[in-house]
Amino acid sequence: MCGIVAYVGQKEALPIIIKGLKRLEYRGYDSAGVALIDQEGLNVYKKKGKVSELENHLTDKGTLSSTIGIGHTRWATHGEPNDVNAHPHYSSNEKFAMIHNGIIENYDVLKTDLKNKGYVFQSDTDSEVFMKFIEDIHKNNDCSLEEAVRLALHKVVGAYAIVIMNIEEPDTLIAARKGSPLVIGVGKGEYFLASDATPIIEYTNQVIYLDDYEIAVIRNGSLQIKTIENVETNPYINKLEMELEAIEKGGYEHFMLKEIYEQPRSIADCMRGRLDAKNGRLVLGGLRDYMNKFQNADRIIITACGTSWHAGLVAEYLFEEFARIPVEVEYASEFRYRNPVVNEKDFVIAISQSGETADTLAAIELAKSKGATIFGVCNVVGSSIARATHAGSYTHAGPEIGVASTKAFTAQISVLTMMALMLGYQRGTLTESKYVQLLNELEKIPSKVEETLQMNPHIEEISAEYKDARNFLYLGRGYNFPVALEGALKLKEISYIHAEGYPAAEMKHGPIALIDEEMPVVFIATKDNSYEKVVSNIQEVKARKGKIIAVVTEGDTTVKSMADHVLEIPDTAEAFVPLLSVIPLQILSYHIAVMRGCNVDQPRNLAKSVTVE
Ligand code: F6R
Repeated sequence: MCGIVAYVGQKEALPIIIKGLKRLEYRGYDSAGVALIDQEGLNVYKKKGKVSELENHLTDKGTLSSTIGIGHTRWATHGEPNDVNAHPHYSSNEKFAMIHNGIIENYDVLKTDLKNKGYVFQSDTDSEVFMKFIEDIHKNNDCSLEEAVRLALHKVVGAYAIVIMNIEEPDTLIAARKGSPLVIGVGKGEYFLASDATPIIEYTNQVIYLDDYEIAVIRNGSLQIKTIENVETNPYINKLEMELEAIEKGGYEHFMLKEIYEQPRSIADCMRGRLDAKNGRLVLGGLRDYMNKFQNADRIIITACGTSWHAGLVAEYLFEEFARIPVEVEYASEFRYRNPVVNEKDFVIAISQSGETADTLAAIELAKSKGATIFGVCNVVGSSIARATHAGSYTHAGPEIGVASTKAFTAQISVLTMMALMLGYQRGTLTESKYVQLLNELEKIPSKVEETLQMNPHIEEISAEYKDARNFLYLGRGYNFPVALEGALKLKEISYIHAEGYPAAEMKHGPIALIDEEMPVVFIATKDNSYEKVVSNIQEVKARKGKIIAVVTEGDTTVKSMADHVLEIPDTAEAFVPLLSVIPLQILSYHIAVMRGCNVDQPRNLAKSVTVE
């Protein structure tokens, strides 16, 4: 995880770096630091805590004038979060300073070796080892720093995005990546480097996505990119489509609430240009060249982590119902290590908001090596997963800054729903009339989400009643089972209340033992195939005095007569219910977390982009 930012040009580097770090804080927020070159030399400033702590620390230092600088916001992997383990890390001679996002797996061997040579380490980090390893190569080979970086990259094992400054070349930044993202913003005589485009967008919309095993050297206002084999490449300059307002709070108290409220628009954006119900048309450009493989696949394997995995579970129901192809949904972290049976007839779908999740990337590489076709469903344009897959469809949800995923989840389900409908239609497992009927219903989802959001004040009242609960149970069946899992995940990650999601029918196989008058149980009990069964489960909970909060279809009276609270969502096709039923659960977790005084946008111990396994 971690976020990195660097700048070289004619402007003051520090404000650009601090602002950029704040934008990247979602990637990690346990410590932060910067390195600058001014009249007094190469100086590193770092502080435990958020970027604002670093800012306070810097105000005591007077004016720090530098037109070059690097900055880092950390999510600890090696070594506890404290000032010393914060980045940047100096070389021993303090001539170089480096920021690193990633993880060096062979750092222990390198460290022992360096210690034997007399190097002393200030921190417990793998990154300091990396810096000193480069320094050692530089010293022993009497070569340029650039060459030392190149040689070092042949020896380190793991993932990295790094940027290095050198006091002897005060107009030069050296950067490299493998496995962790690095975007270069190209301005007029100035360059910005960052883990994603959010710190850059304000200054330029021209960006280069550095590739794995590439080294970028920005010297004297010009950029050169070479592979680690020393072959110069001709970088492609992409135009960013992102708007600045998309990464600001826009009047909302938290990004999470803003993103929950953006869902009518983000779902509509996701469908724009793809779904045209009036003319019975549905086209996902990314699928065009792979439709044949998709249609004739023996099996669909979906791999993802966390919330994206829940979207994958919804897709399992969708693909099996509409297209009649067997589906397996795999945690990427398990899939990559369990020697799975995969072959050329498998169509693998990797789902990821960030497009940087290390386990999902590794699962993709594994499936690719076995000949499967890999399709990505990602939100971040140009991300590692988007580039590692054979083809894909972006979710177009816009930047998601709150650590708890909300609009990305509904956008993922929207893409997967469109894929399932296209596939079912092409395979003939969905009749023309059913297909057209579903397309028409799908097109209404954004306005139904809008309607659902109007429950916010009512949910806030309910939240006040349950904010001190110690446990929650979320129960749903069919399409609503993954929604129950997602509701529970949202609550635990931002409010730190223990919550479990279960298929409602599984309750009597264990969780029912937990139910007493202290236990709130959230049922997702919409009118669908399993409605009657879920109603029976509600009765079972009521008989044991559990508190019932039920998400129901508008107009439902049966559940209303049993539940303590009902949250009514508009009626829709059964397969599209998750797009609506998850909304009240997102809002519930948001209010409970706010009422408990939790930092909803940056919950403890978490980071948005999990680039370590
Ligand atoms: C939960 C959440 C995480 C992510 C997971 C995968 O709110 O955000 O569970 O869903 O870390 O991340 P991506 O989708 O970026 O691969």
